[in-house]
Amino acid sequence: MKQRYYIGNWKMYQSLSLIKKFLLAYTSDQDFDAVKADAYIGIAASHEHLYFLQNKASKIGLHVGAQNCSSFLQGAYTGQVSVESLQEIGLSFSLIGHSEVRRDFAETDMIIASKFKLLIAANISPILCIGETFIQKNDGITLQVLYDQLEHVLEFLQSYSGSTKIFIAYEPVYSIGTGIIPSQEDLQQVFSFLHKIVEQVPVAKNVMFLYGGSVSGKTVNLLDNINEISGFLIGKSSIDFQELKKIVQSDGRMV
Ligand code: PGA
Repeated sequence: MKQRYYIGNWKMYQSLSLIKKFLLAYTSDQDFDAVKADAYIGIAASHEHLYFLQNKASKIGLHVGAQNCSSFLQGAYTGQVSVESLQEIGLSFSLIGHSEVRRDFAETDMIIASKFKLLIAANISPILCIGETFIQKNDGITLQVLYDQLEHVLEFLQSYSGSTKIFIAYEPVYSIGTGIIPSQEDLQQVFSFLHKIVEQVPVAKNVMFLYGGSVSGKTVNLLDNINEISGFLIGKSSIDFQELKKIVQSDGRMV
């Protein structure tokens, strides 16, 4: 069985005490031990919690990543967090290009591609988030939007031959936090397209596709038939351990 990826995006929801509760539930749940063996479970936490979480998680097989990083290597960039500092604490991955960051900080695809390259150089897996808005979907430009969001990264990957695992997370903006999952036809069209354009790069076999947006124990089965999906980026439903467990246990590809 191919490994399945379940990456929680804890956004700005967590506190140290809630994280401790999550870890306690995660480590004391014996039913979950067998499932954990085939699943890659990761948490993208806020920067202030990363050091604590990484120290605990590395002992229990949980993978930890950041929700964002700086596009600069180091220097006078107040409030930013360097890829080097993420590497120093041993993180496995970092989200980049999440639609909430694109929206709130007017991030361009060029800036996101710079982050991507820095992460690759540090051997930290980038989880590059892409996705169209509802208006763009209605205008029939979904595939063009996705291509534009990937273009600079694809250019870079044409001459990359390293072994860092790369994730592309398709997260339609209208699905995030709304309970809406795109139709099977829409998902099939998007993932076939992504697969086709990524197939052209030399490291295509190291690129995994994730789906994100309203994934829960109730919706995860709607994604069973999309073969290209290797796992999920999960927001709200990853905060509570029992909810996350439900997703892993309800995922048709895990059984
Ligand atoms: P959601 O968020 O699962 O709460 O919809 C997903 C995300 O923003 O990564």
